[in-house]
Amino acid sequence: MEHLSREVRLVSRPNGASTHSNFEIAEVELQPLGSGEVRVRNTWMSVDPYMRGRMRDYESYLPPLQIGKALEGAAVGEVVESNDPGFATGDTVLSMLGWRDVFNAPAAALRKPEVEVSSPEMYLGVCGSTGHTAYIGLADVIKLQPGQIIFISGAAGAVGSIACQIAKLMGATVIASAGGAEKRAYLKQLGVEKIIDYKKTENLSQALAELAPSGIDAYFDNVGGDHLDAALASAKTFARFALCGMISGYDKTVSGPSNLLMAIEKRLLLQGFFVLDHLSRRGEFIEKMNRWIRNGDVRYRETVEVGIERAPAAFLKLFSGENVGKMLVKLA
Ligand SMILES: NC(=O)c1ccc[n+]([C@@H]2O[C@H](COP(=O)([O-])OP(=O)(O)OC[C@H]3O[C@@H](n4cnc5c(N)ncnc54)[C@H](OP(=O)(O)O)[C@@H]3O)[C@@H](O)[C@H]2O)c1
Repeated sequence: MEHLSREVRLVSRPNGASTHSNFEIAEVELQPLGSGEVRVRNTWMSVDPYMRGRMRDYESYLPPLQIGKALEGAAVGEVVESNDPGFATGDTVLSMLGWRDVFNAPAAALRKPEVEVSSPEMYLGVCGSTGHTAYIGLADVIKLQPGQIIFISGAAGAVGSIACQIAKLMGATVIASAGGAEKRAYLKQLGVEKIIDYKKTENLSQALAELAPSGIDAYFDNVGGDHLDAALASAKTFARFALCGMISGYDKTVSGPSNLLMAIEKRLLLQGFFVLDHLSRRGEFIEKMNRWIRNGDVRYRETVEVGIERAPAAFLKLFSGENVGKMLVKLA
């Protein structure tokens, strides 16, 4: 029934690691559509590590998620009814109104994809923010050059696995870090030769130094913590760091490198970035990524949970390392 929807709500703010008890599934009855409104059935939604930050009562680049309200996140869906001339039944639309099956929204909260891709979930992963983040971090922040050595952490995850492949296309040597044998095997399949299984490594700084005896030119940080420490220790003078994410610190109140002094001694550039500041280059990126995928230059993998009720589990799996590639929830 298209007027009933299930949504995932935040019922309490996590203290440390999030758990199932922080979420509940609620059923809601949708109102009839008002003028300029559109009803959408979500087909796929994304779960993302940054949402852990939004579960804190703290204003950042995005406002905090509200207790008792549905969560928000990227989703792709299909218009099922429209009271707006810009959208017709059957249109594929993107929104930040994931974590629910069906919803009514003003047309301004929706957008049509700029470029077509072969299946809709790609708008959330390889051709969406995930791939775009990898591309911006390497091309705009690090400005990676052929022949350079780059260290990429969280390398078998959504952003990391795409970053490894783009870095290789840009002519760099990649040293990747990820946890576990399955992820190691996946990175090998992607053509990454130098891999650190950090879960089996006692001294990450030493392991990185052994794989890059002359140092690294660049670091793409998805993890922070000991990974950032290791990158600082192995950085060459004037190395460039793209600070994309620090998932190892998201459940903690304080996280930071113990050897930041190296940034001064080695005159490093450490730049945080946020993909939404680079939307003007999204169309160009998707065209390029479509071409790379068609040519077999970039491959992608998805870990899929099915059904809205599995969304909290999918989110929690990001923090226990149970996804390879992009974690998605299939809704319809
Ligand atoms: N700046 C931006 O605009 C932007 C955009 C998108 C994402 N991000 C950030 O980029 C990073 C990657 O995002 P993603 O979407 O690609 O997620 P992802 O890498 O697929 O996230 C989950 C992976 O993170 C690793 N992980 C989890 N806890 C860890 C810990 N304590 N220590 C080390 N690794 C841990 C796990 O892999 P292992 O099994 O290998 O541990 C897990 O599979 C995140 O930090 C995210 O916040 C930033």
